[in-house]
Amino acid sequence: MLAEETSKDTLCYGGLRQLVPGRPEAGVFEPVSPLARSITDLFVVVMTLGALVLAGVTGTVVFFGIRYRARPGDDEPAPIYGNRRLEIAWFVIPAVIVAGLLGLSIVTARAADPPTTGTPDLVIIGHQWWWEVVYPQNGAVSANEIHIPTGRPILVQLESIDVIHDFWVPQLGRKMDAIPGVANRFWIQADLPGVYLGACAEYCGTQHAWMRIRVVAQPPAEFEAWLQQEARPIAPPATALARQGQALFESKTCANCHAIDGRAQRPNVGPNLAQLARRETIGGGVIANTPENLARWLANPGSIKPGSLMPDLNLTQQEVAALVAFLDGRP
Ligand code: CUA
Repeated sequence: MLAEETSKDTLCYGGLRQLVPGRPEAGVFEPVSPLARSITDLFVVVMTLGALVLAGVTGTVVFFGIRYRARPGDDEPAPIYGNRRLEIAWFVIPAVIVAGLLGLSIVTARAADPPTTGTPDLVIIGHQWWWEVVYPQNGAVSANEIHIPTGRPILVQLESIDVIHDFWVPQLGRKMDAIPGVANRFWIQADLPGVYLGACAEYCGTQHAWMRIRVVAQPPAEFEAWLQQEARPIAPPATALARQGQALFESKTCANCHAIDGRAQRPNVGPNLAQLARRETIGGGVIANTPENLARWLANPGSIKPGSLMPDLNLTQQEVAALVAFLDGRP
């Protein structure tokens, strides 16, 4: 089991290393937008101050422990009652530090969370345990992998269909809770093209850990081309096997939960599968999207993602092959 977990990680994160050369450890310390940078700057200031205080306190304790420790034959030391200057100092210094941090926090909050008026560029909906991604511009619907154009702030409207989730891609901006019945709004931005990883940051059930986010930031023209393609319905099946898969998709009730049209159509119980072949991962990031892995997933989703709401339909190997041919209709 452990080996399997490791190989899953290698699949997904190995991919990241190739896609973002020179940024293998990208995370909170490598912001790629003014929004995220403001948070990182505050984080560094707070951590540095905290480290200095920790070093000062532990250093003092150790120094006094050694220098003034009890020695054989020592008398009890004389008690000291009150020291006004010391008491003022240990009140004023922390008060100044806290007031300074409050000021910096207000500046950061304003920089990381500008007013969210206007039409959202993206609507993201948390599900147990995947993210639905709607592009209002042309109605394209995808899952888990979010494409954005580089160089400008992207207004996100965040919702949840079931429980509280939390959207967090540290390099792009702030965290935001996804709350059922509430539409929260916030900004993300990527100034450099690349793939930025995020995760659900609010415990939301069994597979909270596999509710990953991949944000693919592309130059605007490239993004527009991608978006036009993303709105297309699934390609008509080209082979007899794929045609059989299409028939199974309808008869095995897959179609009750999954849309296969690129546009914002219900059902959305499970991810829209129209452009599934264009995604890097399946199962909320749990495995790389290869025909072999898709077959494993269809044969027994619970073996790859225990607790997944995708049922085991007891498909035969032949049925799995037909569905893979249909869903993975790579040109
Ligand atoms: Cu969704 Cu944790």
